[in-house]
Amino acid sequence: MEEKKVEQRVKDLQNLLNQYNYEYHVLDQPSVPDAEYDQLLHELIALEEQHPELKTEDSPTHRVGGQVLDMFEKVEHRTPMLSLANAFNEQDLRDFDRRVRQAVGENISYVCELKIDGLAVSLRYEDGLFAIGATRGDGSIGENITVNLRTIRSIPLRVKETVTFEVRGEAFMPRKSFLSLNKGKEERGEEPFANPRNAAAGSLRQLDPKIAASRNLDIFVYAMADEGKTGIRSHSEGLDFLDSQGFKTNKERQKCKNIDEVIQYIEKWTENRPDLSYDIDGIVIKVDSYDQQDELGTTAKSPRWAIAYKFPAEEVVTQLRDIELSIGRTGVVTPTALLEPVRVAGTTVQRASLHNEDLIREKDIKLGDYVVIKKAGDIIPEVVNVLPERRTGEEVDFHMPTHCPACESELVRLEEEVALRCINPKCPAQIREGLIHFVSRNAMNIDGLGEKVISQLFAEKLIEDVADIYHLTYEQLIQLERMGEKSVNNLLKAIEVSKDNSLEKLLFGLGIRHVGAKAAKTLAQTFGEMGKIQQATMEDFISINEIGDKMADALVTYFEQEEVTSLIQELQDVGVNLTYKGPKPVNIAESDSVFAGKTIVLTGKLEQLARNEAKEKIEALGGKVSGSVSKKTDLVIAGEDAGSKLTKAQELGITIWDEEKLIEELNS
Ligand code: IVH
Repeated sequence: MEEKKVEQRVKDLQNLLNQYNYEYHVLDQPSVPDAEYDQLLHELIALEEQHPELKTEDSPTHRVGGQVLDMFEKVEHRTPMLSLANAFNEQDLRDFDRRVRQAVGENISYVCELKIDGLAVSLRYEDGLFAIGATRGDGSIGENITVNLRTIRSIPLRVKETVTFEVRGEAFMPRKSFLSLNKGKEERGEEPFANPRNAAAGSLRQLDPKIAASRNLDIFVYAMADEGKTGIRSHSEGLDFLDSQGFKTNKERQKCKNIDEVIQYIEKWTENRPDLSYDIDGIVIKVDSYDQQDELGTTAKSPRWAIAYKFPAEEVVTQLRDIELSIGRTGVVTPTALLEPVRVAGTTVQRASLHNEDLIREKDIKLGDYVVIKKAGDIIPEVVNVLPERRTGEEVDFHMPTHCPACESELVRLEEEVALRCINPKCPAQIREGLIHFVSRNAMNIDGLGEKVISQLFAEKLIEDVADIYHLTYEQLIQLERMGEKSVNNLLKAIEVSKDNSLEKLLFGLGIRHVGAKAAKTLAQTFGEMGKIQQATMEDFISINEIGDKMADALVTYFEQEEVTSLIQELQDVGVNLTYKGPKPVNIAESDSVFAGKTIVLTGKLEQLARNEAKEKIEALGGKVSGSVSKKTDLVIAGEDAGSKLTKAQELGITIWDEEKLIEELNS
């Protein structure tokens, strides 16, 4: 093809495909079959590859995702991205309405919209072209996720007029896409996303835009950051204007003359919510007139002219079939409700922790009761209350046993504890839990020795204490359920590798009371070898900064036991390392590393470093690795599919690095 013709063809294809995209993804009225769209897209991709100079900023080929980024840059929002005050009931809404009318008078109308459960994004258009897309971040500074947002087909890459402006909206994952994404994840043995919101946020946080492109995300645009020179004077006109520019706005919005109409709208959507193809978590109510919005103004955090009504957490009724007791590693007996399986907020629930006997009494829970279930924080199932009116008389009172269901020794209630404990050190349930703990990630980290395998080995009496793990043979393991040649060999290798672990892993793995992973590390660092810890006195332990009386006492008591001495001897005989191998504690004042004295949170999946490895390296440079994000956090390392911790970090405006950046700094 001659050059002029190629140029024309590329232009035509770009326009045509952008138009098809709009018809399909914004108007929901496809005008060509998918196959035809794909064919034209591939033709365009090929032509642009041969003539890269013809690939424009608004070419639909950006939708498939381009280059992988090293990290997201920061973007300052021209107008802050505020959040909304919440209303939880009718009274809150009437109070809001009263405040509004007091400020601007009775002549008022509201616009009600669905509150889409996704993540807020800002889209900046320069001379009509989509230029920068960003996350909310701390409201003033977000992250530049343009490459990922371009893959959302309902975001126009060019708007109708050559305007420069910023629009705001909610990116989300439709339920159907979420279900198929999770199905794929489960088939591949990966952790599924808890809900569509996390899935959407995780997808847009990927440095490889091809991942976002594969996730079928969508958006509803809900506001202009400022009306600029458009001459528009109300929110509803603003939304119509956004429609006319090629954006996708939500059509369920409704203008309401007064708060009663608002309440009716809320009632309608509380009922119709399950029929939507996407998740909503409430209703947003906004004063329509821009003049009135200006008059009402904003507080530091949120506008006074809008409020978000939040739906209550979903509650369902199911029957309590039984209460199961489990004995933990330390002997604590925990009752768990076994429920008739029921769907709540996206997953099937059949168990809920009842914590302890006091809670069962407080809520007057009987076996066979109908109970109300909800997920606290939308994640952990809990029993809200029982429904006494549904009792038939067949229900049975529940009493905690007086004796351990596993070993039959008498249970005790220790002073100041609500929990009942089995204090028999030979209790098989505790030993089994102790074995599971010994092989777990932060302890000896033996891959392939999960709860199921341990339970089988324990039931077959192939292991009775942790040292027995190191005597397991191929012949013994190959007889277990679902263990093939390959998994047995891998497991034997993992057991062998674990012998080289640094001392703190073993110390933590032994499950000494009050000794967590952190204290184990301090002990290993301070004493250097197991022999010295075994010999240490109460005073030796207490003289260590982070070790208190309780822990010191537990340590001395533990190491005094004869069985412990012979267990450690046996571990040494089979070749388990008993020395500390990590770096000496760093004197923070002397370290010039960027990590020194900083509190760092690791979240999401790291690709190149194991999480523990990353933690160790950071700590070796004087950083402190913490599990939760708070105002005290200095830095968050976000791996793939990072979820709520990342969101929180963004909200708090904490510096965020990706794994590449972490590795770069660790090596510098
Ligand atoms: S308006 C200043 N409208 O809900 C007003 N927000 O705190 C900006 N959201 O994070 C918000 N659907 O991302 C508005 N129709 C809607 C919305 C909506 C979802 C989100 C928004 C923000 C949160 C409110």
